[in-house]
Amino acid sequence: MAGMNLAARYPALADLRAGARARLPRFVWEFLDSGTGAETTAARNRAALDRVQLLPRALAGEIEATTEVRFLNETFGLPVGIAPVGMSGLIWPDAEPILARAAAQAGIPYCLSTVASRTPEDLRDAVGAHGWFQLYPPRDPEIRADMLNRARAAGFGTLVLTVDVPVASRRERLQRSGLTQPPRLTPRLLAQVAMRPAWTWGMARRGMPRMRLIDDYTPATRGLSSTAHAGYLLRTAPDLGYLRWLREHWQGPLIVKGVLDPDAARLIEAEGADAIWVSNHAGRQFDGAPTAIEMLPAIRAATALPLIFDSGIEGGLDILRAFALGADMAMMGRGWHYALAALGATGPAHLAAILRADLLANMGQLGLADMTGARERLYSPV
Ligand SMILES: Cc1cc2nc3c(=O)[nH]c(=O)nc-3n(C[C@H](O)[C@H](O)[C@H](O)COP(=O)(O)O)c2cc1C
Repeated sequence: MAGMNLAARYPALADLRAGARARLPRFVWEFLDSGTGAETTAARNRAALDRVQLLPRALAGEIEATTEVRFLNETFGLPVGIAPVGMSGLIWPDAEPILARAAAQAGIPYCLSTVASRTPEDLRDAVGAHGWFQLYPPRDPEIRADMLNRARAAGFGTLVLTVDVPVASRRERLQRSGLTQPPRLTPRLLAQVAMRPAWTWGMARRGMPRMRLIDDYTPATRGLSSTAHAGYLLRTAPDLGYLRWLREHWQGPLIVKGVLDPDAARLIEAEGADAIWVSNHAGRQFDGAPTAIEMLPAIRAATALPLIFDSGIEGGLDILRAFALGADMAMMGRGWHYALAALGATGPAHLAAILRADLLANMGQLGLADMTGARERLYSPV
């Protein structure tokens, strides 16, 4: 990609998404991009964000704006981080170390998934100061304690408990792509792979990705198919008692991810969590869910805890919309992976540059020196 004018060819996330689609085998694209059911929640995420209007400020004079934010006693270079994505390394070779380094470079959080293709230890040298570890809750307390110890020892200081995957969701688009359950390299998948040389070359050099952390607790299983299954066997659907256990055993910041219900937000606050992550998992879990942006005001009213927002962010303007409705931090999942698949290792830094430029351009319109003023510019709540 050297020498190419990235800003001209990929000015927005939509360009990176198109680039990713052209470079990924179909089943990988569907894994990354698809929602559940008829994908109405995924579509409504976009529509609801588009409805949020912010009032430009006239005659604000010259303002020197910063994209820095304070969140849970840390300072981030951008108001958006990298959300946990399972099997990131299947989407692009070495995705986890590349994203962890890009996050460290931009001064933003990198959240590693329990079901990533790298372990916390693999990323010890890459992760930088803002490593978060996302837990799909293991049922076995010994495995649970061991995972937490390993994450902490490898430099992941913030724990994220995901609560919106009590059961596996259906991904009909992924099934249509020909991916079998358990996954097998059928002639149909091989044909998809053969058409995407950049992806295939990278995978051939590094070997097929596996859920390495899960592997460590299921030594008898071998191969992508069995580990994917084992990932579900290990985990439970957490309840408040589970959250209480985590609060007792984790000394650092504890965040609960995947909350849409204001009543749940109150209970989570009462258990001593440090922040709530408002999300509908990008419409990948439940096609009847309200959008995360629509629930944000009610959750803001229900709790004093800091709030993270994700699900459908495509640029700096969307991040400002979320802050206007009560978010204190934002995250993106798919976007970073579109960037990786489109551009390889330089993709995430380019996306960070797009987000920064888009934030500053829109903050200028709103007369904002920093993100904290966004709430005053909300024009019409959704
Ligand atoms: C391919 C893929 C895998 C994901 N895996 C996980 C996961 O392992 N754990 C988790 O908490 N969330 C997971 N998520 C959800 C993301 O963390 C995040 O909530 C969501 O992608 C945000 O929406 P966005 O993609 O529109 O930015 C995944 C999302 C995608 C697209």
